[in-house]
Amino acid sequence: MNHRYEAKKFNLPADIPGLSAKQIEVHIGLYNGYVAHVNKLNEQLKSICSNEGDHTYAMTELNRRLGFEFNGMRMHEYYFEQLEGGATAVDSSSKFANMLQEKLGGFDGLIKGLTITALSRGIGWTVLYWDNVAQTPVMAWVSDHELGTLAGLPIIFAIDMWEHAFMVDYTPTEKAQYIEAYLNNVNWSVVSGRFI
Ligand SMILES: [Fe+2]
Repeated sequence: MNHRYEAKKFNLPADIPGLSAKQIEVHIGLYNGYVAHVNKLNEQLKSICSNEGDHTYAMTELNRRLGFEFNGMRMHEYYFEQLEGGATAVDSSSKFANMLQEKLGGFDGLIKGLTITALSRGIGWTVLYWDNVAQTPVMAWVSDHELGTLAGLPIIFAIDMWEHAFMVDYTPTEKAQYIEAYLNNVNWSVVSGRFI
């Protein structure tokens, strides 16, 4: 709880087709808020720990909130980093491409699976994990930022399906257009680099 987190600066393209500068600006602002709240929570937890007395409930509530704020911070870092450098295709000779071919029937299978999962009702994230124990990719829906995360599985890809991620540019019934636009702008070399 001593660590102070710094909001990352993302190297995003000036033009992201399908996602306006205003949409990205608003969203980055929300990300900065998560970082600020993680730091605020940690400061309060540290303060409580250093004071005498029974702080059981205060600690419990702060710790519960930490999962929401921390994942809100970290999930957005996955999300924006995936746009850094601009769109690139998956390198067909990469380990990631081979995994997609073997496990999901190729890149099209990945996109289909992500899209179907992302169209789930509710707010949260569609996440592609890699289960190192079973040697298999796993697609999952995570509600809010933290409910439904899979223990011990590294995140390979994450798409934000909170309405704030697209409502500057799209209505709720145009969610599929947002998903398509986001996926078209992914730098897949960033994603592939997470699969090691
Ligand atoms: Fe978001």
